[in-house]
Amino acid sequence: MLWPLIQVRLLMVNYVTLALHQNLSLMGCQSINSKGFISFMIEFKEVSKRYPTGQIALYNVNLTIQAGEMAFITGHSGAGKSTLLKLIALLERPNQGKVIVNGVDLQHLRQAKVPAYRRGIGVIFQDHHLLSDRSVFDNVALPLMISGMPPVDIKRRIHAALDKVNLLGKEKELPLMLSAGEKQRVGIARAVVNKPNIILADEPTGNLDPALAHDIMCTFRQFNELGSTVLIASHDQLLIETMKKRIIVLQKVQGS
Ligand SMILES: Nc1ncnc2c1ncn2[C@@H]1O[C@H](COP(=O)(O)OP(=O)(O)OP(=O)(O)O)[C@@H](O)[C@H]1O
Ligand SMILES: [Mg+2]
Repeated sequence: MLWPLIQVRLLMVNYVTLALHQNLSLMGCQSINSKGFISFMIEFKEVSKRYPTGQIALYNVNLTIQAGEMAFITGHSGAGKSTLLKLIALLERPNQGKVIVNGVDLQHLRQAKVPAYRRGIGVIFQDHHLLSDRSVFDNVALPLMISGMPPVDIKRRIHAALDKVNLLGKEKELPLMLSAGEKQRVGIARAVVNKPNIILADEPTGNLDPALAHDIMCTFRQFNELGSTVLIASHDQLLIETMKKRIIVLQKVQGS
């Protein structure tokens, strides 16, 4: 008569797991993977960053972004928004604490694995850093050429990326011939052409009028709906409120 006892126990375990799942779903801030573990795409644990000048950019930051989430980081100028994105992109290292991305503690990521890690992250800057003497096609092709992809695959990928940002037909144009919004969308196409898990954007709408800025944010939302985790630094409070996503406010470190 051991069997019914085991079944009751299994049922109870299932019930407890379900209840836990429902509680967390109600809180709307964590996800549980199929194995029952809480999974985050990005996690900051007591992270501090002090630049060599002595400037403290971040102090004791704790933060979690779940896989597939889209969130905004805001805060005053100097609050550390760009620094936070740079730590995720491995363009800077923290002085204290842990940055964990997709389960990998970046502190322990071997140097040989850094390029592959970076390919999984698409970064968009306010001043899109396009090469002015290269066509739209060549600008978007850059990350794929660096990774050694065959030309026929490059063409296919670029076509798909330009399609997603509504720039098909502009492949041969130089950045000079494009509007500010179009240039920014080339920057986004270049960031997403490697199909990154994570998209980081630092003030991507800073130079754009409100309608274009909203358009760019909707482009990010589309990538989020396709599965990318999206984190955007912006001080445009009005714009980010219209997007109805989580807003994380960074405070400037006192006395820095
Ligand atoms: N390379 C650097 N060397 C020294 N100090 C730096 C460096 N980069 C940033 N800082 C300092 O770190 C602090 C945080 O800068 P950060 O650029 O992350 O802020 P931010 O929130 O992005 O500001 P903004 O809204 O103006 O872009 C600021 O005081 C800044 O001066
Ligand atoms: Mg900044």
